Amino acid sequence: MSTAAEDPRGAAALEAQELQRRIDALGVWHYRFELPGGVSTPIYRADYVNRHLQRRRTFFEPLVKVCGGSLGGRRVLDLGCNAGYWSLCAIEAGADFVLGVDGRQTHIDQAQLVFDAKGVEQARYRFELGNIFEHSFAERFDVVLCLGLMYHIAKPVEIFEVMAGTGAELLLIDTTVSLVPWSLFRVAHENSLENPRNAVDYELLLIPTRHAIFDLARQFGYETVALAHDISDYTGMDDYRSMQRAAFICSKGTPLDSLAREKIDALTLLRAYGKKRARREWRRVRRLLSRRESAARALRRVRAPTA
Ligand SMILES: C[S@@+](CC[C@H](N)C(=O)[O-])C[C@H]1O[C@@H](n2cnc3c(N)ncnc32)[C@H](O)[C@@H]1O
Repeated sequence: MSTAAEDPRGAAALEAQELQRRIDALGVWHYRFELPGGVSTPIYRADYVNRHLQRRRTFFEPLVKVCGGSLGGRRVLDLGCNAGYWSLCAIEAGADFVLGVDGRQTHIDQAQLVFDAKGVEQARYRFELGNIFEHSFAERFDVVLCLGLMYHIAKPVEIFEVMAGTGAELLLIDTTVSLVPWSLFRVAHENSLENPRNAVDYELLLIPTRHAIFDLARQFGYETVALAHDISDYTGMDDYRSMQRAAFICSKGTPLDSLAREKIDALTLLRAYGKKRARREWRRVRRLLSRRESAARALRRVRAPTA
């Protein structure tokens, strides 16, 4: 009888088992990665498999396009990198080097595991644990990815200081946006800092409008394009469909003329904002009414004469 060490198929199966064990030990995964040996990561929401494919089409492919079809020769910084999904996209698009930074150790471990399993050359990447506002970014970068992060922070000007401070010529931003059709930030709150997708410091958040992103980028010397959606299937994409999520490419020199631009006029935004507010107020009124009803029922029970 041959042992696993003698039988390459057995060895591969053991490796797959070991990989699966390490994946399971790293808690919740936000992305499905297909890894060697038929192993994949267990994504926490099935509809997010499509979401990440569609996000890739909508903003990552346009980034590669403005870079001439490849990220070859470029160094990429991935802020809030989570399990390294976008870092891996950058490597697959030919980036020379990627640095991923995230405020949670589990995400750094996940990203490291994915890159190990995929066999990415170690000289081409590094993952570091840290709050991006306290991290020291000593190296220069050509491209910064700020994906799914802007609405998890309370420091919109500071994040542009971080991004512009790396010397990056291109920024790719994907964020939840307030629908108000002028420049402002909506104050919001994280439901919990324990949620691994959320902020790592303050519960208070400042959600930008589209105009605010343009203003911030201009302040730091970037020209900006809000990208048209390229979405073939809206499964898991409700926030994009309802215009509450948008993606932007900001550039200091690379021409952006070839990009398809988002075309949403102020009236459309205002209408969508009005509908959203009306729905929120209606929910509030229904909650109040149901509270009043239960209070009235309780009062009637107390007053009811006992037999
Ligand atoms: C919603 S996830 C987005 C992940 C990924 N970039 C994407 O777009 O799919 C936000 C990530 O940012 C990280 N994060 C939030 N605030 C951070 C901060 N101040 N510094 C570093 N990482 C942060 C979280 O731990 C989480 O992994």
